[in-house]
Amino acid sequence: MTRANHLGSGHLTLDRFETSDSAMARCLAMARSACRTDLPILILGESGTGKTFLARAIHNSSRRASGPFVSFNAAALSDTLLDSQLFGHEKGAFTGAQKQVRGKFEQADGGTLFIDEIADMSALAQAKILRAVECGEFERLGSEVLRDADVRLISATHYPLAKFVNSAQFRTDLFYRIAGLTVTLPPLRERPTDLRVLAAAAVQSAARSQGRVIVGLTEGAVQALVTYAWPGNLRELDQVIHAAVALTEGEVIDERAILLPGAADESAGPSSPPAPRPGPVQSLRSLEQAHVRQALAALGGNKTRAAQALGVSRSTLERKLAALK
Ligand SMILES: Nc1ncnc2c1ncn2[C@@H]1O[C@H](COP(=O)(O)OP(=O)(O)O)[C@@H](O)[C@H]1O
Ligand SMILES: [Mg+2]
Repeated sequence: MTRANHLGSGHLTLDRFETSDSAMARCLAMARSACRTDLPILILGESGTGKTFLARAIHNSSRRASGPFVSFNAAALSDTLLDSQLFGHEKGAFTGAQKQVRGKFEQADGGTLFIDEIADMSALAQAKILRAVECGEFERLGSEVLRDADVRLISATHYPLAKFVNSAQFRTDLFYRIAGLTVTLPPLRERPTDLRVLAAAAVQSAARSQGRVIVGLTEGAVQALVTYAWPGNLRELDQVIHAAVALTEGEVIDERAILLPGAADESAGPSSPPAPRPGPVQSLRSLEQAHVRQALAALGGNKTRAAQALGVSRSTLERKLAALK
């Protein structure tokens, strides 16, 4: 069965996506065309640009909408459990297999199989998926019965997958099987015309979820948002706006409630040292690292709360912290 996730119910459709950005409009037009077909879709874009959202919206707007949407994270697929996870197993197929289990392909029959983080798949996993996708057939572990599943594939990754193909990290044959249409979501910093609208929508949804009434943002607050580079894209915008709503006493969010990594503390008054002149452009990685450190420090080192505030899972935060060492 599809596991419920933070995207909530299945009512997210493509009609709910609005944009005044031309690159994003092209993505949405492509996604709409994709809905009319069963072509495999590859969604590329930086982390937080809305790949998972889009995958679900394509499913919900396609003729498979009444079928299942089954997602799995390829980075979390262990090679030992690979067959059983993808193709299922019969009772007694291995020690501990106490009942028959259907794999992801079977679960997605009549619907959509969403493979997230597909670039993180091991070579073995790539080979297994390719076989199932190419022949359209597979066996459950412990069974010789060939089964098939009527599945539409949508895959996503934040890596430039074509480069992985060139450097032989990703199978060329699988690449062509999953990339019937490729949609590359633009980063938020390249959608300046959308930022105001997205921020306003995020304010309303954050206010609703916090049981608050907020009428909007001051121009100063909007300027702070517009001049920021958003390495974490829509996910980071959502987190910053949720924090801003929580920090706001009245009904209007002003710039003091917009907490962005690296922003000078301008509310500290005239005695504070002048803000440093902008230096060389920081890499996204160093920005992200500074932001992770700041979030953790702000929340007294509580990793669970820091992960929540950053809008990532605790294991993702652990991984980012490990990379800092
Ligand atoms: N089209 C959208 N409009 C508004 N917010 C969005 C949209 N797409 C994504 N988001 C926000 O950004 C967050 C991250 O989206 P997600 O699809 O998980 O990104 P990705 O899979 O690319 O990392 C979502 O939880 C949601 O809050
Ligand atoms: Mg995602």
